[in-house]
Order: sequence, then C-alpha cells, then structure tokens
Amino acid sequence: MPTAIVTGGARGLGRVYSLALAADGFDVVVADLLDSQDVVNEIVAGGGRAVGCRTDVSSAADNEAMAAAAAEAFGTIDVLINNAAYYSQIVRGPFDEVSVQDWDRAFEINVRGAWLACCAVHPYMKQQQSGKIINISSTTCFKGTVGFPHYVASKSAIVGLTRCLAAELGPDGITVNVVSPDLIPDPSLRPSDQVSDTFVVAGRAIKRTQTPEDMVGTILYLAGDASDFVTGQNIVVNGGAFFQ
Ligand SMILES: NC(=O)c1ccc[n+]([C@@H]2O[C@H](COP(=O)([O-])OP(=O)(O)OC[C@H]3O[C@@H](n4cnc5c(N)ncnc54)[C@H](O)[C@@H]3O)[C@@H](O)[C@H]2O)c1
Repeated sequence: MPTAIVTGGARGLGRVYSLALAADGFDVVVADLLDSQDVVNEIVAGGGRAVGCRTDVSSAADNEAMAAAAAEAFGTIDVLINNAAYYSQIVRGPFDEVSVQDWDRAFEINVRGAWLACCAVHPYMKQQQSGKIINISSTTCFKGTVGFPHYVASKSAIVGLTRCLAAELGPDGITVNVVSPDLIPDPSLRPSDQVSDTFVVAGRAIKRTQTPEDMVGTILYLAGDASDFVTGQNIVVNGGAFFQ
C-alpha cells in the first residue's frame, strides 16, 4: 500500500485529506503539533492503517523524525501533503502593524516548514525513484487579500518553492505541485469567515460555500498515478472565481 504523510492532519482540511487518502487505499501518517489520535482512530475504525506523529514542521529534527516514523511504520513514503500552516491563529491587521515576531512565525511554519518536510522525505523518495509532493497555497495570493500580508506572502512563496523543487526533483521521479483552495469557512476557528464568505460566494461562478470535501478530488488526483506527468503546477480549486 502506498504511504501518505499529511502535515497539519489533526483538524480542518488536513483531517479531511487524511481520511480521504485512507479511504483511497493509502496508509496515512497524521503529523501535527496537535494530538491526532482522533483522526488515527477514525481511519483504523474504517479499516485503514494510520499512525499519528507529533510534529512541529518548523523544526528540522521533527521533520526527520516524522519521515523516519513513516518509513518505519509503513516501509515507504509515497506522498507528502504540506498542509500545516500558521493560519487560523494568525494575528490579522494593517500591514505596518504586523509584529516582526508574527511575520517570522508565518514564514517559519508556512515556508520553512514545507521546505524542511520536503528535505526530510526526499531521501526516501529518491531511493525509490518516485514520490508526490503536494504543497498547499491559497487563492489569497492572487487576490492580495488585505489584513494578513505575512500569510499571503508566505503562501506566495510556496508557489516559487514548488517550481524550484519540481525542476530539481523531476529527475528523481518526484512530482511537486501546489493546490490553492479558496475560502473554506470554519467559523468555530475563524469567526470572520462567515462575513467574508458572502462576498467570496458572490464572486464565484458556482454560487455556494466551498467545503473541505471540494478539495478531495484534486488531492487524490495529484497523489495518484493519473498525475504522473504533471509537475510544477498550481491547481486552483475555487468554484470558478476570477481575481480582481
Ligand atoms: N480554510 C481556508 O479557507 C483555506 C484557504 C486557503 C488555504 N488554506 C490552507 O489550507 C491548509 C489547512 O487550512 P485549515 O483551514 O485546515 O487550517 P487550520 O488552522 O484548521 O489547520 C492547520 C493545521 O496545521 C497545524 N499546525 C499549525 N502549526 C503547525 C506546526 N508548526 N507544525 C505542525 N502542524 C501545525 C494545526 O495544528 C492544524 O491542525 C493551510 O495550509 C491553509 O493555509 C486554507
């Protein structure tokens, strides 16, 4: 069975990716700062195989331990989904009121974290001459959404990182792509999502709220054989919104 690591898999979109990959036949490593036992239990109860791994993606040592735990549990690392992010907890405000500490935190988790996770899985993928890395950006990059420039800049960096790695790792049989979700509201974590969603839905061809399940088809496509000749791409999943 192929193995997928999902960072930030304990809740939100990462939880949905973990469950969907398990249902699609992947062994799953759910890596998160938070306890991921609930997700692991849900996968196992459904007949799948999963392990949880406490991981701070901003730490090189934690990423190496995550990759080693995946290889030890399941023998291979076939897919890495770099989904963990400093997002729900990020401090929003005018661009010149963002603290240097908060700016650095966004880049430590969202950019350095994704890069370090790629570094950690690369030896395993290179050895087997195959692998799929899926980085998560955001449509905020195209919109220049006001209120959290550190987040938007960090998610823009993910697109550049993906193109570099796609070029460098292609000869090793590894594809590297980006998926960019639009706003997927979670008012329990981000109360302002509900108001923002009204405007987002109005500017979308498909006039409804985006759900985590809307992401699953694209994630499974990029994780599976059907995308073997697709690399360095950014697939925007947004219900047909155009950016102004
Ligand atoms: N929800 C949206 O509207 C939306 C839109 C575009 C992009 N995204 C992106 O999708 C991804 C998931 O978003 P979400 O809405 O589920 O957010 P979320 O905040 O609910 O989930 C983020 C997960 O990452 C984990 N995490 C945070 N810091 C970590 C660290 N240092 N190490 C390991 N894990 C860490 C959190 O514990 C959490 O489980 C993020 O990359 C986000 O930027 C979300």
